[in-house]
Amino acid sequence: MERLNIPVLLGTAREGRASEGPAKYIHRLLLEKDVESALIDPRDYHEKKTFEKERVQPWADIMKRADGLVIVTPEYNHGYPGPLKEMLDALYEEFARKPVAVCGVSAGMLGGARVVEQVKLVAIELHMCPIRESVYFSDVRNLFNEKGDITDPGFDARCAQMFEELFWFTRALKAGREGVVRE
Ligand SMILES: Cc1cc2nc3c(=O)[nH]c(=O)nc-3n(C[C@H](O)[C@H](O)[C@H](O)COP(=O)(O)O)c2cc1C
Repeated sequence: MERLNIPVLLGTAREGRASEGPAKYIHRLLLEKDVESALIDPRDYHEKKTFEKERVQPWADIMKRADGLVIVTPEYNHGYPGPLKEMLDALYEEFARKPVAVCGVSAGMLGGARVVEQVKLVAIELHMCPIRESVYFSDVRNLFNEKGDITDPGFDARCAQMFEELFWFTRALKAGREGVVRE
């Protein structure tokens, strides 16, 4: 079967961010499943002013080649971080008709449930297909040990369920984009 290409986009550039743990964990799981995947850090793109075209080009190139996307984002005041929105606003056609899984992160118990819903609405406007399954990383500050390993073994199964759905949509939409499915 053809190898899938699904980058992981981290939602925050904040100093001291805890969301890096979940993003790296998801990224590692994708690589273990033989998915081609880049871990995208908004710090590599975020400028004080607006995004410059040349600065965004590597992100555009990655997303153009990608078959789908996973977003791992914290919730800030019940919404999405500015750098995540800027990363999404920087591109358009590169996203079209590709599936996206959205994972939430929070220090509290809800695991970013509210931001996940909001990001899915933005994704629809970008012509993406958000999948239903999400993984919610609650109590994130106690979820990873000093080596960066997750301490709750239940997450592997939750991610596997999300990936099963994401891979199905990734293959189906890839076939559709490549014209295998006729109107
Ligand atoms: C500006 C700001 C707003 C936040 N708002 C929320 C919130 O609305 N809901 C929530 O569960 N956590 C909120 N948090 C706490 C985050 O859940 C916490 O920082 C967690 O570690 C994930 O974000 P991080 O990757 O920035 O560390 C907020 C944090 C910041 C810095």
